[in-house]
This record gives sequence, structure tokens and C-alpha cells, in this order.
Amino acid sequence: MNKFYHIVTYGCQMNVHESEKIAGILSGMGYSSCEKIEDADIVVFNTCCIRENAENHAFGNIGMLKKLKKEKKNMLIAVGGCLPQQMHKAENLHEKFPYVDIIFGTHNLHNLKELIEKKLKSRKTVIEIDGGDGTVSEDDVPLRTSYPNAWVNIMYGCNNFCSYCIVPYVRGRERSRDSKKIIEEVQSLVNDGYKEITLLGQNVNSYKGDVTFPELLEKIAQIDGKFRVRFMTSHPKDFSRELVEVMASSPKICKCLHLPVQSGSDAVLKAMNRRYTTKEYLEKVAYLKDRIPDCTITTDLIVGFPGETEEDFNATLELVKKVGYSSAFTFVYSKREGTKAAEMPDQIPEEVSKERIIKLVDLVNSLTRAQSAQYKGKTIEILCEDYDEKRGLYCGRDEYGRMGYFSSDKNLIGQFVNLTVDEANGISLFGSIAG
Ligand code: 5AD
Ligand code: SF4
Repeated sequence: MNKFYHIVTYGCQMNVHESEKIAGILSGMGYSSCEKIEDADIVVFNTCCIRENAENHAFGNIGMLKKLKKEKKNMLIAVGGCLPQQMHKAENLHEKFPYVDIIFGTHNLHNLKELIEKKLKSRKTVIEIDGGDGTVSEDDVPLRTSYPNAWVNIMYGCNNFCSYCIVPYVRGRERSRDSKKIIEEVQSLVNDGYKEITLLGQNVNSYKGDVTFPELLEKIAQIDGKFRVRFMTSHPKDFSRELVEVMASSPKICKCLHLPVQSGSDAVLKAMNRRYTTKEYLEKVAYLKDRIPDCTITTDLIVGFPGETEEDFNATLELVKKVGYSSAFTFVYSKREGTKAAEMPDQIPEEVSKERIIKLVDLVNSLTRAQSAQYKGKTIEILCEDYDEKRGLYCGRDEYGRMGYFSSDKNLIGQFVNLTVDEANGISLFGSIAG
């Protein structure tokens, strides 16, 4: 009899890719994926805890399964990832939702098959949350769901302990994969027809294998075939000139860099334990722009960090204008229990943060719009990656990260397409295939 799985993923690209590994494990056990949660024999929640709303989302959706579980007693519910990796949250989950069958941490994903088998033999909730720093598991073969894009982990964990961030507590210490294994994986993805490879790590610049990150990137870009390489995330303190040179040297490496600045105020950056100043950040950006003038830069920004004054916030607005980001992820600071910033005085009232985020989003959007408008009439090469059902259009990104939409009678997913841009609307471009 067919058995079905349904995975609900929250959070970052790392989680999206880990859900592909969960899918790989489940399909190895004979499960197939299903669209509707009601049809599933096992539902896996792959959770995130980076901000409070990510946690609330997961708690809310797990809560909503109570009724379904009553009707469908044999359906298994598993909750894994960053949320239960915090022991008190795992206990909380167990107490609130006793019908959850399996609770596992970030370091226990590769053990999911055993956890399911254990649960099938027992009435008790199976809970496995390893502490420690985690290992590098090479055993999990992902079931990729995002052709022609593929994610490849190059490292796990984070040692930076930015004062607001929970990641180092739930993902353990930095550990890098063997460079040969990474290169082999990319080679086999290219052989299989994948056209865009994104190298993933919490801080790819601190990759420590037998080669440095720029050397690894260079080797990957030397693999034969037409494909693109992206990487994320880069911590500005470790972003080097050597990396810029490698980016400049290969047309395969996308001219698009995600360089989270978080704040434009030196006082706030210091309190955040970011270990760079705005001057150092801007110097790196200036070097990048000098060597690769058309490179786009994206970032992450937090408003309402404890103690952030109106001047600090204005400094962020100024820095955003100076850099001219092509887009940015903007966040209201969220207090995370266990982090240094949670203990800091002068937590910012919600109304103040709300006002600030609105101003910041407005500014970022205006920069994005202005840059999009410059695309009008130009022909760009995009990698067709999806079909947008709602719009009835195919879509894909150029190397700079811009999304372009177009109509086609043929399925062009996985192909590079030259698109002449007729219209720019916010972040999106609309056009037609160049003749
Ligand atoms: N509150 C708000 N934003 C946060 N981020 C990380 N921790 C928090 C927090 N406690 C943001 C940072 C990071 C991105 C992935 O999430 O901007 O770069
Ligand atoms: Fe969090 Fe800082 Fe590590 Fe990024 S570098 S994951 S923001 S601690």
C-alpha cells in the first residue's frame, strides 16, 4: 500500500535544503510525497526559531493538527529542527501537543528513519535531541525539489555569537565538509542537468577544509558546463579581497552578493558583536564595486535592537542609501531567550520598531524600484526556474537576482532564456523572449 509524507518547512534556505534530506530519508522508507496534509501518513514540521513569529507560526500549525490526528490516529506527526533543539521548547511542545509522535533536534535529522521505526513499536513520544556540537553527516541523500536550482551545504553551524542570534545555540559549532565531497556533489549535479548551484553555510567565508572558501569557489567554477554558482551567507568581517577576485574571475559566479550589515550604527554593531565597523564594511563594498562594478548587493537589516536610538536608526538609513542595495531582508529585532541581547537594557518599544521598519522598508523598496526601472528595454539572460500558476507565466532570475516573467508555449524550465524587459514592477520584471 502507498504511504505518503507531507513536510512543512519554516525558515531559511538551510532548512529548505534539510527538508530535501528529510524527503530523501522518507522516500527511502517507501513514502511518496503528497500535496495535502490530510492525505499524509506522516507529517514532518521542520521548524525555525530565529524570530518569535517563526516559532508562533509552527506552534499554531502543529496545534491545528489536533483534530486531524483524532480522526486519523495512525498518522504520525514529527517535529524537528531548530525549535525543539532548545530543550525547554521541546518540553513545551511535548506538554502542549501530546499527540506529536516524534520530536527531534537539528543534530538528529540523519536518524529520522530509526526514530520513526522506534515510534511505530511504541506508544510513547520519541524524543531525541543531541546536544554537543554536531557532526558532518555525509549519508543523507536529498530528494531535490527545486530543479534547476540545487543547494549544497559546505559547512554547518556558527561560531560568531552575534548577540541577538539563536543560531549558534541551535546549530552548534562551525564544521566544514570535505572539499572533495563538495566538488563531487556539484559535479554530479551539473551532470544531472542542474543549472544553478547555491553553496550554503551560516558563514561560508569561514569555511575550513583543506582549501579556503575562495579556493573552493574557484575550483567549483572550473567544473565544465553551463551553470551558475551562488553562495550564502557571507559575514562581512570575513569577506575578503581574495573572494572578490575569484568572483571577478569567473562568469559562472553570479555577480550578486548577500552581505548582511544588520545596522548602520557603529554603536549598535558593537553591541550586536558583529566585529566590523561601518567604515570597514563600506571599504569592502567599495572594493567590490571597484572590481565588479555591476555586482548587486543584498543585505539583512534589523531595527529596534536594544538601545537603538533615532540617530542609530538614521545611520542605518544613510548606509542603505550609500550602498544602494538591490534588495534587503528587513527584520524587527526579536528577543531570543538565552542570547546576550535578551539581557540588555533599553529594549525598544514595539511602536517605535514598527515606525522604523516602515521607513526602512519604504527606502529599500524605492531603491529596488529604481534599479528595476533601469532594466526596461534591456535584454537579460535568465534561468527559467518555474511556472507561476497565478500569473500564467514562466519565471526565472538573472545572475543579479532579479526575477523576470514571460509567456511561452513550451516548458522552458531549466533553460537559459534571453528576455527583453518590457515592464518593471517593483522587484519583478516582465518581458518577452528575445528573438
Ligand atoms: N531578531 C531579528 N532578526 C534576527 N536575525 C537573526 N536573529 C534575529 C533576531 N533575534 C536576522 C539577521 C540575520 C537573518 C538571517 O535573521 O538579520 O542575518
Ligand atoms: Fe547568527 Fe551572526 Fe551566526 Fe549569522 S553570523 S548565524 S547572525 S550568529
